[in-house]
Amino acid sequence: MLLAVTASDDPLLQPFELRHLTLRNRVFSSSHEPAYSEEGMPKDRYRLYHVEKAKGGVAMTMTAGSAVVAEDSPPAFGNLHAYDDAIVPWIRRMSDEIHEHGAACMIQLTHLGRRTGWAQDDWLPVVAPSPRREPAHRSVPKEAEEWDIDRIVVKYADAAERMQAGGMDGIEIESYGHLFDQFWSPLTNRRTDEYGGGFENRLRFGWRVLQTIRERVGPDFIVGIRMAIDEAVPGGIDAPTGLDILTRLEADGLVDFVNVIRGYIADEPALTKVIPIHGMPSAPHLEFAGRVRDATQLPVLHASKIDDVATARHAIREGKVDLVGMTRAQLADPHLVRKIVEGREEQIRPCVGATYCLDRIYELGEALCIHNAATSREQTMPHEIPPAQRRRRIVVVGAGPGGLEAARVAGERGHEVTLLEAMPWAGGQIRLAARNPRRRDLLGIVEWREHELARLGVDVRFDVLAEAADVAVLEADVVIVATGGLPQLPELEEGGDRIASAWDVLGGDVTPTGDVLFYDDDGTHTAMSAAEMIARSGARLEIVTPERMLGIDVGGMNHVPYARAFNETDTRITLNQRVLAVRPEAGRLCVEIGSDHSAHRSVRHVDHVVAAHGTAATADLYFELKPASVNLGAVDYTELLAGRPQTLVTNPGGTFQLFRIGDAVASRNIHAAVYDALRLLKDL
Ligand SMILES: Cc1cc2nc3c(=O)[nH]c(=O)nc-3n(C[C@H](O)[C@H](O)[C@H](O)COP(=O)(O)O)c2cc1C
Ligand code: SF4
Repeated sequence: MLLAVTASDDPLLQPFELRHLTLRNRVFSSSHEPAYSEEGMPKDRYRLYHVEKAKGGVAMTMTAGSAVVAEDSPPAFGNLHAYDDAIVPWIRRMSDEIHEHGAACMIQLTHLGRRTGWAQDDWLPVVAPSPRREPAHRSVPKEAEEWDIDRIVVKYADAAERMQAGGMDGIEIESYGHLFDQFWSPLTNRRTDEYGGGFENRLRFGWRVLQTIRERVGPDFIVGIRMAIDEAVPGGIDAPTGLDILTRLEADGLVDFVNVIRGYIADEPALTKVIPIHGMPSAPHLEFAGRVRDATQLPVLHASKIDDVATARHAIREGKVDLVGMTRAQLADPHLVRKIVEGREEQIRPCVGATYCLDRIYELGEALCIHNAATSREQTMPHEIPPAQRRRRIVVVGAGPGGLEAARVAGERGHEVTLLEAMPWAGGQIRLAARNPRRRDLLGIVEWREHELARLGVDVRFDVLAEAADVAVLEADVVIVATGGLPQLPELEEGGDRIASAWDVLGGDVTPTGDVLFYDDDGTHTAMSAAEMIARSGARLEIVTPERMLGIDVGGMNHVPYARAFNETDTRITLNQRVLAVRPEAGRLCVEIGSDHSAHRSVRHVDHVVAAHGTAATADLYFELKPASVNLGAVDYTELLAGRPQTLVTNPGGTFQLFRIGDAVASRNIHAAVYDALRLLKDL
């Protein structure tokens, strides 16, 4: 049962004194590099992303994630160039605007050390305490020489001074997995000089950095540390050691707050324990953060999958932390705090832990929220949908993510909206994806929209397999076809009718047993998730894919649980191979496989073949409706991209505008569907 909490007694909404700063509440956004930088600068996109959170009520937003202090720390994921004087005016503009909206702002500084790649930016060699390669980034670093150490110490201080000049309220030193703590950790520091060997020696570099920063920025500028108090890995810094370091930092007056990290980030499985994805427990390190708070007088900050308000409130009420990080939660809904303040908690768009955001910074160079297409597109996409000038009648067909979003946005615009869905429930492919118990939280994408549609008075009709006549009687001004797609199977030389689809497996219609060959000609979650379910069911699985890596469209963080499942079940993985033909043979199936790379062919004998190959658009209704529409279904892309309403009239005799979105156009993903819907409907 939810306890009623009023704004005045809500622990989350109590102010907090951080040195001379008075923060308006207890929720902050922890440093994260969304890779929105342009030439290493936080330009408009970057700034507006943070300003939106300030407008949305956050107490403090930590900008950047790992802004790099030196040229020989090449950006691994779009990091800001804190080493460049040109950044100061951009920082100034960002901090000024964040302050105007009542939030504090800080920035995280770092030298990535070995946690980056050498083949970018200035192609300077990657440097680390010892030449030990980090599994995740794979650079072999050079061992830092004394002149490197002296230079980098000064670089940290220069960068801190730039941030002070840019109006930041403070800085945070990144000390987990980066150069700073690569010196601290025995796992990465194998030196025998005065910077290695014994404990005191390993601390020397960090102390020099913090002392030099302090000398440069003076006593009033806030300097904090985001620190792995416990690396939680054999041979690494353990909790007693981490607490010892923290106590020394506090005693020497070198830091003003500690932002608690527990874990190790050198490889992806370890990183998911620090930043848990969906299917993993919430707030896994909150108790540990509480133990740190008991051991220090410093303000304690912490973020790690505290994605719902109740847990965040608990964290403050129980004194586990002083400030609670809700980072992805505010990527999903930057107005989270304002909604709490205004008593609209149930309207908060939930973070469902999909971690599409983080995976994209490596794979595709920018963080996007799987179901908030306005995040990071603040220049063009509104988080709050303005009402339309003219109320229109809008019919949306299909209640998958695209249709739900279209109905929501149309409802926010104040239109009269009817949503027709063939099934007795909403969700489309999300419901299928959520059949994998590990991905159940995806349902939040559906449930939030269902609540919003109820609030907005959208007329939702289930069990309606809409035909053109059903739509016609509704006399719509605009019809949105969001009817999604159906699984497509790959074309084979023979035996295509003998294979089941990934959807059959996810939906529970087919449970393959014995020897199963899964042909992944898709590379997305649909394929990986179905394969995971087969592997976990006890079948002997081989995955065959024509790609050069497994799950080519699934990012590194999301890859982890799939890899674990395939590992634990001894799943055989065959890359660079296609299924060419499937033939019956002695009550089983003979599968012929070959490669794009050579003419060589081989065979497998299995009990079942399952395949994934994207979806084919379900667009019959769209084509039925097309002749009666004024635009014959055409989208004016120029107007769409310019953020102007659609006005194309190619059939003056038509009676309504017609558009199709999401997979009803072509096989894509959840983000594409909601973005299609938002950008079209916000101007209708
Ligand atoms: C896109 C993205 C980039 C991140 N980059 C950084 C970073 O550069 N430095 C850092 O300390 N943490 C980084 N993080 C981790 C976040 O600060 C935070 O610890 C993490 O998201 C867990 O908190 P949450 O569950 O509230 O999101 C990043 C997170 C995301 C989603
Ligand atoms: S992509 Fe997923 S994890 Fe990231 S903010 Fe959006 S809902 Fe949260």
